[in-house]
Amino acid sequence: MLVSPSILSADFANLGRDIEMLNRSEASMIHVDVMDGVFVPNISIGFPVIEAVAKIARKPLDVHLMIVEPQKYVGQVRDAGAEWMNVHLEVSPHLDRTVQAIKQAGMKAAVTLNPATPVALLKDIVAELDMVLLMSVNPGFGGQKFIGNVLNKIRELKSLITETGSHALIEVDGGINATTAVQVAEAGCDVAVAGSYVFGSPDPEATIASLAAI
Ligand code: DX5
Ligand code: ZN
Repeated sequence: MLVSPSILSADFANLGRDIEMLNRSEASMIHVDVMDGVFVPNISIGFPVIEAVAKIARKPLDVHLMIVEPQKYVGQVRDAGAEWMNVHLEVSPHLDRTVQAIKQAGMKAAVTLNPATPVALLKDIVAELDMVLLMSVNPGFGGQKFIGNVLNKIRELKSLITETGSHALIEVDGGINATTAVQVAEAGCDVAVAGSYVFGSPDPEATIASLAAI
């Protein structure tokens, strides 16, 4: 499985050190959680931090926007150095337009679904997507408990991807640890996001390697 460690659980006072660790590690991407205090009940980081991370990161940045009106920031997300731009379906009434704008800006387009948002809503867009991010917690905080229903959603999404000839990867975010990582991989997950499990472990680099080996 590909691993996208979430820097939400990194040590922000030593962020450069933690990014260097991710550069050395088997992580395939670096997951960056942006929160606005409106779409989700928390505020995290914004463009200056993404730019600083992009300057030293040697892995693609996987930027997960937990914000309202994400379409307003396509150019800024690209200029900050993102390779992947994840927007939530719940705040994207003109999702096709937003996805085209992300791709025209030269980024890979990903759409994120909250735990209670049905996979079926992606039927008419999934062929256009590079990745679908399924939330396995309600977004806003690291360290929450895995919501097991995502396993059904992964299987449903996998079928939809096959039926539509989509090349989209399936990414899962929230509550990933040694046990849940195996469960999501068996269900068909391609990319696991992990925050507290990686950065809360005694040897984050080894923990990333253990996830990548699943
Ligand atoms: C939650 C974020 C996640 C978070 C995951 O709103 O989108 O990316 O960092 O943290 P863990 O892995 O601790 O559940
Ligand atoms: Zn995230």
